[in-house]
Amino acid sequence: MYYSSIYIKVMYLFGFLLLRVFSKGDQNVPYDVHYNIIYGNQHVVSFNQGRELQISMDNSSGSGFGSKMNYGSGYFHMKIKLPNRDSAGVVVAFYLHSNTNLHDEIDFEFLGNREGQPYNLQTNVFANGEGGREQRIHLWFDPTADFHNYKILWNNHQIVFFVDKIPIRIFKNNSNIGVGYPQQPMQLLATIWDGDDWATNGGYTKINWSFAPFKANFKDFKIGGCPIINSNDNHNCNSQDYWWNKRKYWELSFKQRRLYKEYRAKYITYDYCDDIPRYSIPPQECSINMIKKKM
Ligand SMILES: *[C@@H]1O[C@H](CO)[C@@H](O)[C@H](O)[C@H]1NC(C)=O
Ligand SMILES: *[C@@H]1O[C@H](CO)[C@@H](O)[C@H](O)[C@H]1NC(C)=O
Ligand SMILES: *[C@@H]1O[C@H](CO)[C@@H](O)[C@H](O)[C@H]1NC(C)=O
Repeated sequence: MYYSSIYIKVMYLFGFLLLRVFSKGDQNVPYDVHYNIIYGNQHVVSFNQGRELQISMDNSSGSGFGSKMNYGSGYFHMKIKLPNRDSAGVVVAFYLHSNTNLHDEIDFEFLGNREGQPYNLQTNVFANGEGGREQRIHLWFDPTADFHNYKILWNNHQIVFFVDKIPIRIFKNNSNIGVGYPQQPMQLLATIWDGDDWATNGGYTKINWSFAPFKANFKDFKIGGCPIINSNDNHNCNSQDYWWNKRKYWELSFKQRRLYKEYRAKYITYDYCDDIPRYSIPPQECSINMIKKKM
């Protein structure tokens, strides 16, 4: 009896360790399991058997990679380290994009800056071809010194942008009052490109090509998403079998809400909802947020 119970415990432990090794292994898959290089092949280098990817841009080309599949919901993440030194005018993007005429898109765009000046992280949401929902936030750490985790939660209740564990933006499904909400299958992409006509100080601060090539590094290529095999699959992606669709992910937790308020109060540098010259009447989703702010 005694020995067999020890034996069972050992087997449990062994099984547990095995599980850990495998799930860790899965987390750490080479990029080419789920992604392809989509452009600028000669500007992409992989390290550590494909577990880290570096994309770069010089005056001849940028580069990028994208998921092989499209997704209908998910909790997408990527560890990213941004170009160091002077990166003014350089844009690194990590985003979801539907390849359609009236497209849906959910964006992280890292807007480079002169050396020593902070990066702006811009986020945007397009639904049915309609965007113009930019927000910008200063990062509270040096994103060029190390990898940080950037995440997009997308279910049919909300879209949340996370920087490490901090939720920096929420876009609610307000389709019941006529606000567009992304619902088309989207591809996950990461790119580096020349945005110097707008990205830094409204386009006044240009790329200094003597600092090229600009290099961004990526890690952690597992994808937590609902893959769409054919376009009729879409409805399955709201299933609660996917953990990011469960009730817990329909809104922020109390603690997340507190962090959201705290970090936004300190680090937001631009919010389209407050841009009166641009939108004399703020878009509908903004007034809903205002009501929430006052509550
Ligand atoms: C691009 O950069 C290379 C290397 O710095 C330089 O030799 C070349 O003249 C540049 N080309 C253009 C079109 O600016
Ligand atoms: C948004 O919410 C509505 C209910 O208000 C729901 O019918 C719809 O499916 C949701 N949209 C998406 C894209 O998930
Ligand atoms: C680009 O950077 C180099 C090296 O710091 C500097 O000498 C040069 O003046 C810069 N060019 C522009 C246009 O700012």
